[in-house]
This record gives sequence, C-alpha cells and structure tokens, in this order.
Amino acid sequence: MEKASVLVVEDDHAMLVALKDILETAGFQVRTATHGEAALELFRKERPELILSDIAMPGMDGIMLYEAVRDLPGGKETPFVFLTARGAREDVFAGRSLGVDDYITKPISSHELLTTVRARLRRSNELMVEQLKTAYKLSLLMLAGGIEARDQYTHKHVMRLNAYSNAMAKELGWPEPRLEALEFGAILHDIGKLDIRTSILTKREPLSADEWKEMRRHTEYGAFMIKRIEYLAPALPIVLYHHEAWDGSGYPEGLKGDEIPEEARLLSVVDSFDAMTSDRPYRLALGPSRAYEEIKSRAGTQFDPKMVEVFIRCWEQGRIRKIMDELRDDVEEKVALVGARELH
Ligand SMILES: [Fe+2]
Repeated sequence: MEKASVLVVEDDHAMLVALKDILETAGFQVRTATHGEAALELFRKERPELILSDIAMPGMDGIMLYEAVRDLPGGKETPFVFLTARGAREDVFAGRSLGVDDYITKPISSHELLTTVRARLRRSNELMVEQLKTAYKLSLLMLAGGIEARDQYTHKHVMRLNAYSNAMAKELGWPEPRLEALEFGAILHDIGKLDIRTSILTKREPLSADEWKEMRRHTEYGAFMIKRIEYLAPALPIVLYHHEAWDGSGYPEGLKGDEIPEEARLLSVVDSFDAMTSDRPYRLALGPSRAYEEIKSRAGTQFDPKMVEVFIRCWEQGRIRKIMDELRDDVEEKVALVGARELH
C-alpha cells in the first residue's frame, strides 16, 4: 500500500525531528517545514494528504497557514491538525472558530499523535469515497439522460423509477448495499437503448417484427456495456433481466419465476407502472388507478406475485401517489422532448 504523506510544520527543531521520527517509524511519508511560507510552498508542490502544524511560529503562523491552504486547490479537503501548547486556550478558540476540529496538545505522546493522524486520514478517505460515489452517480444519471434524449422517456422517468423501487425495497427490508445496486439498476436499466436506432426508439407507429427484435436486444446490449465495470456489476442482473416475465414469456432468456433475479422482478413492476402512467407518442397515459389495477391483474403472469404484493402495500400507504406527485413531468420538459423528437 502506498504510504500516506504528512506535512509537519514546526519551528522547534528538536520537536520537528521527534514528530518526523514517530511518523516515519509508523510508516508515513513525512515532509517537514519550519515556517508557514515553506509549508505553503511544499503543499503547492506535493499536495500532502494531511498537515500537522504548530500554531505559534514566526512569520506566517499556523492559523494563517491554515487559511492560506484552504484557498488552494485541494486545500479544503486536506485534513489539518494543530499542535498547540497545553493551556493555549486562545489558540484553540481561534482554531475552532475557523472550523478546525483537531488539536494535539504538547507534550505529545506518540500514541496520541498516531491515533489522531490515522483517524483524520481515515475520515478524509471516507469523505473522498463518498464524493467519488456521488460523482459517479451523477455521471450515470447524465449517461441515462443520453438515453432519455433519444427515447420517448422524460428525465423524470429514471427518477420516479428510482423512487418507486427504493420504496419497495425498503418495504422488503433490503440492506443498504442492495439498495445501492437497485439504484444503479434503476438508472441504467435501459442503457442498452443507446445502441438502438433512433428511428425505432422514436417511431410513432407500431414496430414491425424485426424492429421489435432489435428493440428487445437493449437488455443484452446494456449488460454488455456495463459488464466490465466492476463497480456496476451488481446492477447487471437488473439491466439484463428487467423484461423477463414471471410466467417465462419475457426476454431475453425467457427465465421463469425464481430464476429471474429478485431485483429484476422488482424493477419490472415499477418500470411497467411508470410506462403505463406516462404519455407515449402513440398513446395517452392510463390514470394511476387504472394502471394500479392493471399491475394487480398481471400478478403471477407478467409479475412476481410477491412483488405485486409489495407494490400494493406501497400503494396503500400512499407512497406511490406521493412519488408521482413529486416527480411529475413538467409541461416544458414534454415540449422540449417533442421538439427533440422532431429533429430526428
Ligand atoms: Fe427496458
């Protein structure tokens, strides 16, 4: 594993050597500076993962350094730990008002030093992972937006699908990692449509047999697109099997009952519900109650009866209606969409 790099800023030479020694022995990569300006320069060049800085120093002191680092790229994300003399309360207050949350008071024990440094690095890594996940999700949504722009769906389709399936999964008591896989699946389920001809996706007349054949391949195309991305692997069964039917009449493999992954059985209910309750170029939407009755009537044929049960519970709790109301397609969006279709 790569060693985490720590920048130690301390004007007392003996102290600096002692800190460096403790950290290096524990496996950290240590850079040192004896005053704020030098530290700032090093930060610019090397972007250490954590800064450990004395407060009282000649010239640019620790507080000034902290503020200067915050203004640099990556500065806000870098954990900053102050070293302060015992009893220097005003330092602590000054730091707190700036949002600093870590202090080590001198004299320092190596145990305290290492515990604090490790905890701060762990926390900052966790935050980074969270930020990456968010960025990842946003890029997936943008990608899904690419399908929506070509298909007759509106942007809200994916958002509603995500909300409906999340409500059902929570009703089922699924744990967090499963919810996340389901979310990725909901966002990406139709990603394979990027490989389907626009003339088919936007056709107003019924599709011919050959066109249907091509349209149906979006499940396999989608699975092919994401199969090499390890992070998205949990979404793959949803992408591939969301058009399978409980009685074996679905596609691409004609799986039956429990052979169909549970996530795909769940998504297929809400995907159909959302399709029924949305306008399409070739037909108007069904009213929610009609669509709800339709879903119920297909329990045991198209849909897993257990999933329909769960959907009914969410419906009766008013959660489905609430999502519909919150994520209604706006008129402008529809107009924009029709405009985009006209261009193809
Ligand atoms: Fe689909």
